[in-house]
Amino acid sequence: MKKVGLFQSIQWKIIIIMILLLLLAIQVIGAYFSQGLEKELKQNFEESIDERLEVLSYNIRDAILADRSEGNLERSLEYDIANIIALYGQSDAYSKLQIVDRQFRIIGTNNQEDIGKIVTGESSVRPSIISGTKSRSIQRDAVTGERRLVKIHPLSNNDDEPIGAIYLEASMESIYEQLASINTIFLNGTLIAVGISAIVGVLVARSITKPITEMREQAQILASGDFSQEVNVYGVDEIGQLANTFNEMKENIKIANHTTEEERRKLSSVLSNMSDGVISTNEAGQIILMNDPAEILIGQTFEQVQNKLIFDVLNLSEDMIQLVEMQDSSSITIDFSDDNHFLLLKANFTVVEDEYGRFSGYITVISDVTEQEKVERERREFVSNVSHELRTPLTTMRSYLEALIDGAWTNKEIAPQFLEVTQNETERMIRLVNDLLQLSKMDNKGHEMVKERVNVVPFFHHVLDRFEMNKDERIKIERSIPRESIFLWMDKDQIIQVVDNIMSNALKYSPQDEAVRFKLTKERNRIKVMIADNGPGISPSKLDKIFDRFYRADAARSRERGGTGLGLAIAKEIIVNHQGQIWAESIEGQGTRVFFSLPLIARKQGD
Ligand SMILES: Nc1ncnc2c1ncn2[C@@H]1O[C@H](COP(=O)(O)OP(=O)(O)OP(=O)(O)O)[C@@H](O)[C@H]1O
Ligand SMILES: [Mg+2]
Repeated sequence: MKKVGLFQSIQWKIIIIMILLLLLAIQVIGAYFSQGLEKELKQNFEESIDERLEVLSYNIRDAILADRSEGNLERSLEYDIANIIALYGQSDAYSKLQIVDRQFRIIGTNNQEDIGKIVTGESSVRPSIISGTKSRSIQRDAVTGERRLVKIHPLSNNDDEPIGAIYLEASMESIYEQLASINTIFLNGTLIAVGISAIVGVLVARSITKPITEMREQAQILASGDFSQEVNVYGVDEIGQLANTFNEMKENIKIANHTTEEERRKLSSVLSNMSDGVISTNEAGQIILMNDPAEILIGQTFEQVQNKLIFDVLNLSEDMIQLVEMQDSSSITIDFSDDNHFLLLKANFTVVEDEYGRFSGYITVISDVTEQEKVERERREFVSNVSHELRTPLTTMRSYLEALIDGAWTNKEIAPQFLEVTQNETERMIRLVNDLLQLSKMDNKGHEMVKERVNVVPFFHHVLDRFEMNKDERIKIERSIPRESIFLWMDKDQIIQVVDNIMSNALKYSPQDEAVRFKLTKERNRIKVMIADNGPGISPSKLDKIFDRFYRADAARSRERGGTGLGLAIAKEIIVNHQGQIWAESIEGQGTRVFFSLPLIARKQGD
């Protein structure tokens, strides 16, 4: 997760907001305060000036109006006024104090140089004296910039006739100095307040952001899949509640995560342990999941088919795709055979819908139905083969019997021949039915073999002796059988039948004057029997099939020799029931070698 920059942090924002609020408050208070203070100071200043002027004017008026004729008074007016000024007109603030008489002559001042001067026409003293009105103004010194309060106080006698005026200029700088020093105090106060509030802000902000920062870190840990950490709860305020909720939420997520994980594991173990293949797609039909059996069945790995369209991967034709797309669930059989194997797959498509009922993909279960299909086909072939095999002798018999009925029975030469043919055909049918019965008995799981411990050396000699007695004299049987005793568990009758079936084939196909070889060898844990002839052989493509029921490599010739194609099938069945193997090797035109092997008795069972 991105780290939050210092100036983007909540802490910083809180501090800034606090300082700005404080500055705003101080500004507003300061503005009101200094304005009020200025007004108040000016007012006080002017009031005190007015009061003193009042006293001054009262005394000066008395002095001017005093009767100085006839030598009543020795002191001159100037002297009196100077005394009054000295008494009431001294102040640091007075930069200019002038007493002007009726003739606009300065008769008293705090600056003795001006005594006796006539005030100029520009001065506002003159109009004030003439009109007898007070005047007040604030002036600024052009040179020093000093602000002064200028007051002109006209004097009049008892008849309200003007007798002069007091002109006073008082410096206001002291007020402004006072204001400036107060402002300085204010500024310092503001700076201290800002400093303190910044510190307080840091503390307050930290108390708010600490749990939030912690929660943020916890959330990051949580996001990485670690549910072990708890968030500290610092109080019962909103942040405390948030922390509590966060912890609860974490618990819930942990449980949900656990459940999901468990489900996922179950699902994946089900998927990988089932024998059917499962392929899942997204809404576009692209493969997003596939289990191992599916990989084996379609012969491609998940990486190879990921995101490919399932219809392409399964080689579906246009019609099949339409069929799948039209239904919610459909089952189709796909021919997946290639040059080497025959493979039929059954695919069940089920539509998956999301919570709003919209199509969100297919779940396809595929299974190998090759074996089923093969069994089914074999069953059909078997029935048709049996019918065919039975029909041939029956047809032959019917035609001979018809001939006999039609009068041939009276012919002493033909009748016995005809009866012999029907007898042969009957025997052939009996043989066929017996073979079939035996096969069906062996197919039946309940069928039990009568196994006994047999020394195969005398046993095979005995079986071969029987052949020697019945065979065509021109054919020899060469035996190669070890002398030592070899013990096997087996059903004697059944193994006799195996040798019978293979030997009868060899004798049947062996050319006259050529030997049929019987060879028994003992291997590490089995015996191997080979029966070889120098007959016509079997072409390689047919070699595997000779063990199939009713299979005849050369149908015409075999039938002519009375074969039904069941001999080797029965032999195979028996050998497989004895946990052995049977196979054939042949070179066309040179001969055939049929082998079978049987397991030896394991040591612990005796011997
Ligand atoms: N030694 C052999 N040489 C050449 N072909 C053989 C030999 N053994 C078996 N075959 C071929 O294999 C086929 C199957 O043999 P199998 O013994 O099962 O049937 P069959 O001999 O025709 O009839 P059955 O044995 O039931 O009388 C035969 O029809 C024959 O074509
Ligand atoms: Mg045979």
